[in-house]
Amino acid sequence: MAKRTLRTPLCDLLDIEYPILSAGMGPSLIGEKTGAPVELVVAVSEAGGLGVLGGAGYTVEEMRDAIREIRKLTGRPFGVDVLLPAATVAAGDAPADSTHEIPLADALNALPAAHREWFEKIKAEFGLPDTEAVISTGTTTSRPHAAAEVCIEEGVPLFCAGLGSPEFMVEAAHATGMKVLGIAGNAKNAGRIARGGADLVVAQGHEAGGHTGRVGSMALWPQAIDAAAPTPVLAAGGIGDGRGLAAALAVGCIGVWVGTRFLASKEGGALDIQKQAIVNAGDEDTRRTTIYTGKTSRATYNRFHDLWEESGLEPLRFPVQVLLASAVVDMFNRAGNVDYVGPFAGQVAGMIDEIKPAAQIVEEMVEEAADILTRRLPSSVTVS
Ligand SMILES: Cc1cc2nc3c(=O)[nH]c(=O)nc-3n(C[C@H](O)[C@H](O)[C@H](O)COP(=O)(O)O)c2cc1C
Repeated sequence: MAKRTLRTPLCDLLDIEYPILSAGMGPSLIGEKTGAPVELVVAVSEAGGLGVLGGAGYTVEEMRDAIREIRKLTGRPFGVDVLLPAATVAAGDAPADSTHEIPLADALNALPAAHREWFEKIKAEFGLPDTEAVISTGTTTSRPHAAAEVCIEEGVPLFCAGLGSPEFMVEAAHATGMKVLGIAGNAKNAGRIARGGADLVVAQGHEAGGHTGRVGSMALWPQAIDAAAPTPVLAAGGIGDGRGLAAALAVGCIGVWVGTRFLASKEGGALDIQKQAIVNAGDEDTRRTTIYTGKTSRATYNRFHDLWEESGLEPLRFPVQVLLASAVVDMFNRAGNVDYVGPFAGQVAGMIDEIKPAAQIVEEMVEEAADILTRRLPSSVTVS
C-alpha cells in the first residue's frame, strides 16, 4: 500500500514527516532507564514522528550520554523531556557535586517520622525484604538549569518541559535554533506557557498516564487552543490510535503527544510485566493517586493505592515522595507481590491489546487518521 501523507504545520516546524510525538516518560528511580528510553526515541523518529527522551530521573551527565547515543543511531530530529519544579528553578540547582550513588535505605532516613513508621509497618506486615536499591542524587529534576544547558550545548532539536515553565531558558534555546515545548493540564497554564515564549504547548487531559490534571481531553484541547493562541497546541491524554489523532486535528491541534500507547510498545521502557498490565487493563482500571510522586498521577490500579489511602498520610513534596514510593515498590517487586505494583498508564490502556513495534504504531495511526480525515465517516453520518 502506498505510504500516506499526513502533514500539519508541526511537520514543518520540527522537520518531521508525521505530526506524532512520543511523550517524554521519565524512568523509575530504581534500575534500568525505563519510560521513554533511547530505543523508543530512535524508533519513533526513524518512523517519521518525533521521539522524546524521558530525561527526568537521569543525572545530567547520563542525559548527555543518552543524547549522544540517540545522535549515533538516528540523524532525525528528536526531543528531550525534563521536569522543572518551579521551586527548584527559582532557588537554583543542587550543587554540581551533589551527584552521588546512595543506598535508597539511607535516603529514607531523611523522611518525616510518620512516613518512615508507615514504611516500616508495611514492610513488617507483608514480610518484605530490605530494599537494596541504589539511587543517583543530583538528577535533572534537582538540576534543571544544568539540564537545560546540556540540552542547548548538545543542540537537542526540541526541549520539552514536562512540569513547570521553560520560560527561564527559552531565549538561550532560541538563540541556537532549538524549539521549546511546555505541557499544561488546564487552559490557564496553556496560556502561561505560551506567553513565556514556548513554541508549542501540549494540552494534556485528565485521562493521561503519569502526572495529570482535572480537565478531560475533549474539554481541554479547544480551551487550551484559545488560551495559547497564536502558539500552536498539541493534544495529549487518551490518544491510542488514528481515531484519537484525527479527533485532535479536527479540534484544531497541530499534532499529538502520546505516552501510554508507546510505553506499551516493543521499544517502550517498561518491564514485560508492566506492559502486560497495560494490555490486561480495561478502561476503568487506572486510578489517580499521590502515592508515587506527591503530585496527582495516573497508574494502573493496584493495591498499593489502597494502602496509601488507608494510611491517612499527607503526600510529601515532589520529588521527596518518590523516595518513599520507590522503596515500597522495590520491596513489593522483589517479593513478587504483583498485586501491589503497576506502571503509570492512562485510560487509553483499555484499548491497547497488543505490544507492537513503535514504527507500526506510528504507521497505523497515520493510516487510520488519514482514512478518517479524507473519507471514512460512518455511513449514518451525512455531511455536505
Ligand atoms: C510511564 C509514564 C511516565 C511518564 N513520565 C513523564 C515525565 O517524566 N515527564 C513528562 O513530562 N510526562 C511524563 N508522563 C506523561 C506523558 O508525557 C504524557 O503526557 C501522557 O502519557 C499522555 O497521555 P497518554 O498516556 O494518555 O498518552 C509519563 C507518562 C507515563 C505513562
